[in-house]
Order: sequence, then C-alpha cells, then structure tokens
Amino acid sequence: MGFWWSFPSETWALISILLSIILLYGYWPYGLFKRLGVPGPKPVPFLGTMLQYRKKFPLSGPLYDAVTTAEDEDWRRIRGVLSPSFTSGRLKEMFGIMKSHSHTLVENLKKTSERGESADIKEFFGPYSLDVVTNTAFGVNIESLNNPNHPFVDNIKKLLDLNVFNPLFLATALFPFVTPLLEQMNISIFPTAVTNFFYTSLQKVKSERLAQAHKRRVDFLQLMIDSQKDSNNLNSKERNKVMTEGLNDHEILSQSLVFIFAGYETSNKTLSFLFYNLASNPETMKKLQEEIDETFPNEAAVDYDMMMNMDYLDAALNESLRLYPVIFRLQRVCKKTVRINSLTIPKNTVIVIPTYTLHRDPEYWTDPDTFNPERFTQENKENIEQYAYMPFGLGPRNCIGMRFALVIIKLAVVEILQRFNISLSEETKVPLELINTGVLAPKHPIKLKFTPRNTPDSAT
Ligand code: HEM
Repeated sequence: MGFWWSFPSETWALISILLSIILLYGYWPYGLFKRLGVPGPKPVPFLGTMLQYRKKFPLSGPLYDAVTTAEDEDWRRIRGVLSPSFTSGRLKEMFGIMKSHSHTLVENLKKTSERGESADIKEFFGPYSLDVVTNTAFGVNIESLNNPNHPFVDNIKKLLDLNVFNPLFLATALFPFVTPLLEQMNISIFPTAVTNFFYTSLQKVKSERLAQAHKRRVDFLQLMIDSQKDSNNLNSKERNKVMTEGLNDHEILSQSLVFIFAGYETSNKTLSFLFYNLASNPETMKKLQEEIDETFPNEAAVDYDMMMNMDYLDAALNESLRLYPVIFRLQRVCKKTVRINSLTIPKNTVIVIPTYTLHRDPEYWTDPDTFNPERFTQENKENIEQYAYMPFGLGPRNCIGMRFALVIIKLAVVEILQRFNISLSEETKVPLELINTGVLAPKHPIKLKFTPRNTPDSAT
C-alpha cells in the first residue's frame, strides 16, 4: 500500500490522464446515436450495444472472398457470376437432387410416426436442409440423417458453432484497431482445421469433376466451374477480362462454403417454424392439404412448376416468415453522409433494420401476432407495404438463395402433408419462446405428432 502512496504527484497526474484516455476510448465511440438524437439501447463502455447487435463477422479468414463478405466491385463481380445459378431453369435442373432428400425425410418421419413418438422436428429438418444444400453446393451426398457422424456433419457443426464470447470476437470488439493486424497474420474466427478440411474436400471434388467432364451434373459447384473460362487458352487481354469477370478457384470454394453457412440454418429453422404454425392452426393445415390433394391427386409425384404455382402454400409460408423471420434484422453500411428528414447519418455508420419488429408492427398489420395466411393470398397481398415485410432482405444485396430456399421448403411441406396430419403433442411447449443463436430460433425443441393420413383414426 505504502508503495503506491510514495508516487510523486507527476506520476499520479500521468496515471489520471491515462485512465481518462482509456475511459474516453471506452465511452466516446458509443455516443454517436446520442449525439445524432437517435433513441436506442444504452451502450455499455467498451462493448457498446454489441451484445444486442452483432455486426458482420470480422476476421472471416479464408472466406474473405465469399459473396457475403466481399464489397463493392468484388461483390458485384461475384454476385454477377452466381446469380444465373439461381434462376428457376437452373433450380428445376436440381429438383431431382432435392427430391431424393425429401423422400429420405418422409421415410424417416414415417419410422418415428410408426413408433407412436412425437418428433423433435429439428432432428429431421436440420439434416434435410444440410443434405440438400451440401449436395447442391459441394456435390457431396452426405445423407446426414442416416450418417450423423459423417466428417462433413462434424465439421459443419464446428463451423456454425460461433458465439459472441469467442475471445477473437471480443478482441476485435474491444480493440477494433487490432483487426487489420490479425487479418494480416491470417488469424480467423473460423477454426483453421475446419476451413482447411472444407477447402481440401472441395478441391478434391472439383478435380474429380474436371477429370470426368463427360458425366455432366447440375449443381452450384458445376455451374461455377462452367462459368470459369480456361484462361490458359486466352491471350493476355482476354485473360485480364476473365480475371475481372470469372471466379478463381479459391472464390469458387468460398461460395460453396458460404451457401452452407447461409442456407442451412435459415432453411431448417424456417421449416420448423412453419410446421409449428401448421400444427397450431389445424384449419390452415386442412386447407393446405386440400390444395395439395387438388394439385397432386393420390400422392402424385411433385412437379416443380405446379408446386411453385400453389397460392395457399405460398401464403402460408410467407405468413410464417412474417411471424418468424429467421434473419431478424438487416444491416447496411452508409457509403456517404446522407440527410433523411432531420437526421444526418455520417458515412461508414452501420444501419440496422429491425425486420422482426417491422413484421409485427400494428401500424402495418392488423392483429399482428396472429398467424393468418389470408394476408398473403393473391387478392390481399398487394396491400402489403414492401418495406414492412423483408424476410429475405431487399435491394441488390438481398438473399441470393431465396428461390432455392422456397423450393426446398415447399417440397418438404407438400411431401409431408400428402402423407401426414400434423398436430401439437403433450410435449410441445406453447407458446413458443424465441432465442437469438445468430438466427431466430426456438428456445426449446419443437415436438410434434405426425399421424399417417390414411389410418381410420386420422382426420382426413
Ligand atoms: C428460408 C431461408 C432463408 C432466409 C430467410 C434467408 C434470408 C436472408 C437474408 C435476410 C439475407 C440478407 C439480405 C439483405 O441484407 O438484404 C440473406 C443473404 C444471403 N443469403 Fe439467404 N436466406 C435463406 C436461405 C438461403 C439459401 C438456401 C442460400 C444459398 C443457397 C442463401 C444464400 C444467401 C447469400 C449468399 C446471402 C448474401 C447475399 C449478398 O451479400 O449478396 N440464403 N439471406
């Protein structure tokens, strides 16, 4: 104790200045909203509001060139190459792959149903989404529903297991100036062993594809390989053009990986919420089954175009996404200082758009907490305010996988409702409690009953 008190007054002055600077550093950056007059959550020194709002991952490591991370011209070029892969023509070509996985899904639900058990639906929709996305993005059929220990499944779990208390996350939040240094040192938020596993596997698949060019297969990986021109046969002017237009090898691998990242949890959770809504609203489920039976009588095979033209199916899915938008807020960076009404937003400010809140705002929705697919039928949907409904975002940087997600979700709904009635079980927790796991997720497992439709005690 005596040691401290023996310091001369100059040392104390220096210590006070240092402490003031540290405090100022911890407080000042988080006063922006207050200075602009924008109300919001009270920031905590050093952390700001990051515990409520998560920014785009810094330190994306080898994913620096993924479409989700790239910016400006790089993003425009990558997005331009990827967009044609998501047209309905292309998705139709992948419909066969999707159907093989929806059949596995139905078979596995049948086994659970025959045992008289209620199903924890994430155990079914998780593997279904993962299998479809992995098979179309990587060209690898992992059948995770039947092979839960497949190395792909294990590594994907590790890849998705990121949380806000990761020491690297905290380091970049507390000391943003170290981010460029860590990036220079190739330090990434994603475990190196995991990203190496994927890049090596993808490289292998890609080489096999090139060696067997005659066996044509349509999936995202193949479409990206096809878009890559053989620069060896080009003169230098043409090669420069390819460098600015096509994707290089690393970029192809990054896009495949990011499709899993962006597509797996989102599709899986959206399916879970939709089935919870159907089980809680038997009238909607029956009406949907009527539409399905009319479109595909006697459990007829599902046709892409007919399925995508089903009005009530589309309305039920849209309404479920309104109540449970899995990406519950959007984010943009302001590229130049703008003035909107009386508010000046400085350049580089991160703007968060609260989708979940807008989707339940009584100013735009009557009875906002009620599940009512009628809002989205052909006659009614033109009354919807565009900016009050954005489950897939809006504008040029909206979800590139939207159409793909709609196809795989609708396919699962049609094939399941052709064969089963869905109901809540004694084990279903009602009302649903929600948590933030990076996406909007149910707090407790959703357990539902799947009863075969052709049994005497079943309702239809
Ligand atoms: C129900 C499922 C899905 C939902 C609700 C969803 C939602 C979203 C949202 C809200 C965004 C941000 C849009 C914005 O900021 O305006 C986004 C971006 C993105 N999504 Fe999806 N998504 C889903 C499925 C998928 C699938 C299956 C894929 C890929 C196969 C995918 C790939 C992407 C990509 C690559 C981006 C970034 C686009 C860019 O930055 O240019 N998503 N998604």
